[in-house]
Amino acid sequence: MDVSGLAPIEQTALLTEYCRALDSRSATPILGDTVADSTVRQIDHDFAGLGASPSVVALVALRAKMLDERIRAHVAANSTAVVVDLGAGLSSAVWRVDPPETVDWFSVDLPAVMSVRESLVPAHPRARSVAASVLETDWAAGIPADKPAMVFADGLFAFLDQDAVVGILRRITEHFASGVIAFNDYGTVSKANQIVGRLATSSKSNSPHRQWNFPGFKDARTPEAWNPDLRLLEEASAMQRPEAALFPAGLRIASRLSRRVPSIARKARILQYRF
Ligand SMILES: C[S@@+](CC[C@H](N)C(=O)[O-])C[C@H]1O[C@@H](n2cnc3c(N)ncnc32)[C@H](O)[C@@H]1O
Repeated sequence: MDVSGLAPIEQTALLTEYCRALDSRSATPILGDTVADSTVRQIDHDFAGLGASPSVVALVALRAKMLDERIRAHVAANSTAVVVDLGAGLSSAVWRVDPPETVDWFSVDLPAVMSVRESLVPAHPRARSVAASVLETDWAAGIPADKPAMVFADGLFAFLDQDAVVGILRRITEHFASGVIAFNDYGTVSKANQIVGRLATSSKSNSPHRQWNFPGFKDARTPEAWNPDLRLLEEASAMQRPEAALFPAGLRIASRLSRRVPSIARKARILQYRF
């Protein structure tokens, strides 16, 4: 399938899916998402130009695994949960988690991405599509509001500015009666970090670094100040997981250092908030 018509922000979905495909092809996968591999094989694209280094592959696979675990736990505790994947891209999280038939799963992304998704990702019986921008105020209008919600975003917030992220968090807590918001996060991302990321990947015209907007935050409680309905539930670092034994050498060293240097642990964290 030709995806050259996707805008740069929409093309960021290719890197994460490709990373999960590469992980699944590894002899010792972290996530083992074979649906990702079959999705990628149907796309005609210069994947090699995306900058999927072994470290990026490992971290993308592990953060998806960590989010899956949290979604499974929420669904196990709330049999009538509604799960919402914000900026779902081509992710097959719904197949990995495979929720029971009492659960509804909504995948939200921009219309062009949803159209590619519907062509390539096998339809799961519990899954529904929402083709909308999460910057609009009414993207959640068709999603049941009265069920325990698990709203998650894997790889979305980095591309939005802080006001947009604050607005999205507000709309989630206004729309859904109760639930959990989970997302991956990188701690503070200074302007210098963003520029270095762009320069390091400047030969890769479609690198997601070019789309980076979110300045991030150090203290995991910061979103509580943005939105008084949120309560920090968990801050967990991918750097401190047992799967770090499977990381490439440099990342393994960083993982060991992260025990003593909190800023390294923050660079690959999953945050959860209850509301
Ligand atoms: C890095 S990708 C991650 C995709 C997916 N979560 C994954 O793990 O593969 C970021 C996704 O956010 C989507 N996105 C960016 N801005 C968006 C917006 N305003 N509304 C909805 N989706 C958006 C992009 O289209 C893209 O699919």
